[in-house]
Amino acid sequence: MAYFPKHRGRRLRQTESFRRLVRETSLSVDNLIAPLFVKEGIDRPRPIISMPGQFQDSTQSVVEAAKKISDMGIPAIMLFGIPAKKDRTGTENFRGDGFISETIMMIKKACPDLILISDMCFCEYTEHGHCGVLNKDSAYQSSHLDPHYVCNDGTLELLQKASVMHVQAGADMIAPSGMIDGMIQAIRNALDESAFGHVPIMSYAVKYASAFYGPFREAAEGAPQFGDRKQYQMDICNVKEGLLEAKQDIAEGADILMVKPAMAYLDVISKLAQTVDIPIAAYQVSGEFAMLHAAHEKGWLDLSKAAVESLVSIKRAGANMIVTYFARDFAAGKL
Ligand code: PBG
Repeated sequence: MAYFPKHRGRRLRQTESFRRLVRETSLSVDNLIAPLFVKEGIDRPRPIISMPGQFQDSTQSVVEAAKKISDMGIPAIMLFGIPAKKDRTGTENFRGDGFISETIMMIKKACPDLILISDMCFCEYTEHGHCGVLNKDSAYQSSHLDPHYVCNDGTLELLQKASVMHVQAGADMIAPSGMIDGMIQAIRNALDESAFGHVPIMSYAVKYASAFYGPFREAAEGAPQFGDRKQYQMDICNVKEGLLEAKQDIAEGADILMVKPAMAYLDVISKLAQTVDIPIAAYQVSGEFAMLHAAHEKGWLDLSKAAVESLVSIKRAGANMIVTYFARDFAAGKL
């Protein structure tokens, strides 16, 4: 008869030392990336109401925030720019002497060792809030498409210009987040041709058209002014499509793949981790962060325990690194 050892479950759980000894997943500040928002034209940081403890920084305060993050031992930031003036093609994202290149330069001067990842997208820079140029405003205009369709190849050209400009200013990595087809290859080519072959690309490869980005739209002021992002972001019901996006982006030259959001897509992270050979990042997005804070404010759960549990779940699913608004609290030992 088979022998089922009694107490097997509990023998190794009896003390914290035993539990530490057999723990399979650990969280480390080494694998965290802190997002930062910089807004042109403000003179002091503005709190983001739906994201407690997070701010829209001014071009000065963002440098101080980056310095603190670096001093805490967090290896990287993800930088989002919010220009004072938006237009149809998002010019401020690729203007060489614009606020975003100035900001990148100042941060890198103050924190040379901090990895500055530039979120590369147009929704914060265009007046319509879509992640690229519209068909009607594009040099690649097609009469077969709706004038308001986000033009794929016209956007690629702008992504190339903006990426080269951000790297010239000092960005250490480019993270295209617009889900435009061919964006990795286009940016890789543009960087290689500009002698920036050493600069890696983190692709938001598997990004869903999610309701969990709600609070971010307040933070980055990039909500679409009409329609939604379902033409370019993925359908929340699909997994196979995500694996295909991932393979495609690896073939195009991505160095790191991202899944976004994290907590509602742990199955996708897990599948991808078993399928691909390059590092996987997961973005614990604004809605995930806001949700935990809101429940905590109501007294319904313990924020730090729930935050740690959610971060562990993302790691356990197979993510190598996590973009998270909890990065600073974790590094400060507040979680
Ligand atoms: C821009 C972008 C978004 C987020 C990161 N980059 C918003 C969106 O796609 O609508 C969301 C991040 C978050 O919710 O924390 N493309």
